[in-house]
Amino acid sequence: MNNRSSLSWWQSGVVYQIYPRSFQDTNGDGIGDLDGIIQRLDYLNDGTPNSLGIDAIWISPFYPSPMKDFGYDVADYCDVDPMFGDLATFDRLVEAAHARNIKVIIDWVPNHTSDQHPWFVEARRSRDSAKRDWYIWRDAKPDGSLPNNWGGFFGGPAWTWDEATGQYYLHQFVPEQPELNWRNPDVKAAMFDTLRFWLDRGVDGFRMDVIGLIIKDEQLRDNPPNPNAPADLPENAIFHRLQQVYNMDQDEVHEVMREIRQLFDEYEARVAIGELWGPLERWVKYYGEQGEGLHLPFNFRLMDESRWEARVMQGLVDAMEGVLPPFAWPNYVLGNHDRIRLATRFGGQAQARLAAMMLLTLRGTPTLYYGDELGLENGDIKPEQMHDPQGINLGVAFTRDVARTPMQWDASDHAGFSSVEPWLPVSADYATRNVAVQGAAADSMLAFYRALLWLRRGSAVLQGGSYRSLPLHEACFAYVRELDGERLLVVLNFAAAPCRVAVGENGRFLLSTHPDRAGTTDAWLDLRPFEGVVIAL
Ligand code: GLC
Repeated sequence: MNNRSSLSWWQSGVVYQIYPRSFQDTNGDGIGDLDGIIQRLDYLNDGTPNSLGIDAIWISPFYPSPMKDFGYDVADYCDVDPMFGDLATFDRLVEAAHARNIKVIIDWVPNHTSDQHPWFVEARRSRDSAKRDWYIWRDAKPDGSLPNNWGGFFGGPAWTWDEATGQYYLHQFVPEQPELNWRNPDVKAAMFDTLRFWLDRGVDGFRMDVIGLIIKDEQLRDNPPNPNAPADLPENAIFHRLQQVYNMDQDEVHEVMREIRQLFDEYEARVAIGELWGPLERWVKYYGEQGEGLHLPFNFRLMDESRWEARVMQGLVDAMEGVLPPFAWPNYVLGNHDRIRLATRFGGQAQARLAAMMLLTLRGTPTLYYGDELGLENGDIKPEQMHDPQGINLGVAFTRDVARTPMQWDASDHAGFSSVEPWLPVSADYATRNVAVQGAAADSMLAFYRALLWLRRGSAVLQGGSYRSLPLHEACFAYVRELDGERLLVVLNFAAAPCRVAVGENGRFLLSTHPDRAGTTDAWLDLRPFEGVVIAL
């Protein structure tokens, strides 16, 4: 059994994802920057319950980049894009965060570089280039067609023809994101050096972008068709019409995971988080056979679920808990920069509130997405306002811009995000849905997040206790967290109707989604629509 003192910071703590373009602009270009993050650190954690009280920030990429995929196309892994600041700003950010006991996790994009990265510029110079094999090049088939049938996540084929050298190169995102050849030891060594560069600078961990993609089938075989592909997919959605068998999640990837972990273990208390999807039994392998893999393969199961049903959520949690070996620490994500906003996905503010209680009371590390603590809903992005290549290529229904709109700080122009028109439009509700207004209102989403986070901070059982679900009622997801004889009961009513459950013992309310709830409960508990409660038994 874990007790609090035996947990690492990344087990007991809560991570908050910042999309740096959209958090706080300080230099008046309509784009957020690192100084903006520094300015807002007290909002995240000033050591008091007037702040959010998170333990770590994960910052999406701020590397020099042509921004074809908004920073996920990296032109230099060891610098900061001038639009975000410079290395000195970054050092100040780490220092200021650490002074507030906030850990700093940064993004690492190992699967592909920008086509402007000097490595690729050199590789495409000629077939004899010393760096040619750092990327994945193939001849056309004898009939002139593409090397295989793979598609890109954002539509179109995964291959682009390089006229000058007469070969195709592989890219599963935009053509300006050529994929590195991780079977080449020099690539591995060079990329490991980039990890060391930042670890030596004091970063506390990495979130590793599409880490399961770095090793592909050695023969690059065709992917089989996907019999479950939706019929209404756009014409160019080749990727979605195929099963992802040979382009990702190859068994050999775990050898690299072990090496990455060994590198992390040379340093004190750093965390390796990976962006991973796939079925549970494949996903769990990324922890390693004995815990020698990643610390946290991101668990997106609750984020990728749009059915708002207690039994569905419970099923996802129980199944994950069921496959985790004892050494593996769970984690949960409800929103990020690639998915629609959780308040939109789950159908409204009341549902978003209940979802927050679930995320912050389950066993495992929660990762919050900036703005979800205000209940931000999808931004209203017109086709001509789209920036995201996924939306531009596949249609406005696919744009990720809706979850990347500027943070809403106050009711002033541009929501206090910037002094000029921001790169993406501020949502129309900013005058009322913002930090200043919600921070002053006891019943706001922000006040509720703060209460939840500070409850969790003060509770060893929420941080480290065991988890056991209870079949109390069809409409409720209920579970007990337990540690050293202390027991907490969480009951979440997913229904838009009231619900009466037999708790069977007396308890004391620690928190409810409905702020008027206080005092004690007896054997029967009456929950209002979408009400969730945490009860000390
Ligand atoms: C990951 C990122 C996403 C990016 C893609 C390519 O899925 O989260 O934003 O577009 O990788 O790097």
